Amino acid sequence: METKLKLGVLGSGSGSNMQAIMDAIESGELNAEIVLVMSDFPDAYILERARKAGLRAEVIDCAGYKTKFPDESQAAVAQALKSAEVDIVCLAGFMRLVKQPLLDIFPNRIINIHPSVLPAYPGLMAWKQAVDDGASESGCTVHYVDAGMDTGPIIMQAKVPVLSADTAETLHQRIQLEEHRIYPAAIKQIATKL
Ligand code: GAR
Repeated sequence: METKLKLGVLGSGSGSNMQAIMDAIESGELNAEIVLVMSDFPDAYILERARKAGLRAEVIDCAGYKTKFPDESQAAVAQALKSAEVDIVCLAGFMRLVKQPLLDIFPNRIINIHPSVLPAYPGLMAWKQAVDDGASESGCTVHYVDAGMDTGPIIMQAKVPVLSADTAETLHQRIQLEEHRIYPAAIKQIATKL
């Protein structure tokens, strides 16, 4: 795809992965623009990060649910992303399960970064799962999103060692360095196939 790719980003946390995507765009490494950033938490730093960078940033109304992503909210998000003419939806630390109608409206166009080498350690706090399990290595995965939890086809992975002195937090920091490298690279890779 030679035209500039339009990205939508959904996140629930600090948005360091979105920052890595922004940096890759800024450096010319990635021919893309972030046209819409959405978060299910009004106070999430990803929204502040986006606004500071002059990006359009919106809160997703999840009707008071802490973890559920209600159908109406998914429909509203799909509509907003569609109106913004998003080509690829990037989940960047987004902690709710995406399903219909979002999956139907963006078939094979929703991708996620997960902090383990899938299929190992799907679900929450994958870095802690790896430490608790006594794993000798872990890492991260960029994959297409399907209706399962962290089950879609894999686009790119990176591995890091788990050191004997690691806590869940130090392992997560090491994994995040790799996340920030492979997420922009994976977007670049799939953009050539659109
Ligand atoms: C990242 O480590 C990402 O892999 C993880 O949340 C963190 C968000 O960090 N995502 C998941 O665990 C999804 N199951 P960020 O907000 O700094 O990008």
